[in-house]
Amino acid sequence: MAAKVVTWQDWSDYFEAWKREIGMVGEHVGDYRFEARFDDVHPEIEFGDFRGARKWETVLEIPDQRIRDACEYLIAVQGDTEFASVEQQRALYDTAPSDYDFQALARVNREEMRHGYQMAYLLVHHFGESGRREAQKLLERRAFKRSRLLGSFNEDVDNWIDFLVFTQFIDRDGKFQLKMLSRSAFAPLARSMPPMLREESFHLGTGNDGIKRIVRAGKVPIGLLQKYFNKWLSTAYDLFGVDHSGSAQWAYVYGLKGRYDEGENPAPADRSQLNEHARELFVAEARQLIESANRLIPEGQPKLTIPDIRFNRRIGGYAGQPWSVDGRLLPPEEHARHLVLVLPQRADIELANAFMKDPAWIASKKALDAVGG
Ligand SMILES: [Fe+2]
Ligand SMILES: [Fe+2]
Repeated sequence: MAAKVVTWQDWSDYFEAWKREIGMVGEHVGDYRFEARFDDVHPEIEFGDFRGARKWETVLEIPDQRIRDACEYLIAVQGDTEFASVEQQRALYDTAPSDYDFQALARVNREEMRHGYQMAYLLVHHFGESGRREAQKLLERRAFKRSRLLGSFNEDVDNWIDFLVFTQFIDRDGKFQLKMLSRSAFAPLARSMPPMLREESFHLGTGNDGIKRIVRAGKVPIGLLQKYFNKWLSTAYDLFGVDHSGSAQWAYVYGLKGRYDEGENPAPADRSQLNEHARELFVAEARQLIESANRLIPEGQPKLTIPDIRFNRRIGGYAGQPWSVDGRLLPPEEHARHLVLVLPQRADIELANAFMKDPAWIASKKALDAVGG
């Protein structure tokens, strides 16, 4: 463990050491310059109990210690996911299906590092001693030691099927989180979001195109791809947090984290169901994208489906309950057998890994663009 971090320079040195450990050197990063980026945002608090007041520029302006602590925690969790995903994706460079894909992976990871850097910047520059401790911890936990804060970010990304399903659905969750933070009452956090959201859209696009390119090539069995959908989407549901969440309600009341559709939704927020609301919007978006990928599957062949929202949950009211991927409540022994059938097992992972050696497993980006996918 490194010495106690006390300055931004110390943190930056520690970041360099982390990059070397994870292998984010050479052509993986190129001459990319890591920096914090801020856009202008609406100057007033837009929801919650402080609505209409000026956004807080510094921690000293935050009216309550509990709000300050909640804000610091939201930033730390966001930063944790950013560095975690780079750790998860660190071993994929050698099996990139094309130079285009290598460059896309390198860009995604550079931007995730920048997002983590941005969150660390806020912690170190605004939250004093405790913020510096949190910023250091962002570089101490490891996805592959299962010590990251949220479940999705402790799962293995073994191959490019994993990566493309991950960017389609887990980065999409990221978009939801960033958008919810984009109207935060803490101005430096709100101002961090527009540049991050612009970068994030490339990650989602990589995943969405990638799924369609897999389907278009017609090599990977839909059943195998479906197992990866089941794996990642069930963890994505968990990322929206518990049902009837008290902390989500406080984050809303404090003005720290809005609804995903805060700007467009004139109805007053149901403060007791904020996580459920965001999760439902996410499921609706995911369902549409899956339907659009299904249109590339020839008639008469199995289609991709979205797992039931209760399937394989570790968080919330359905946590640990034996729901099937298609929404049936199973006896526990049958559920155990079901999981083996619908989630990637060792043989599935080996099969998926083997596809990485077949250059035809995925259609080129050009071929997809040509069919207007
Ligand atoms: Fe990100
Ligand atoms: Fe991302």
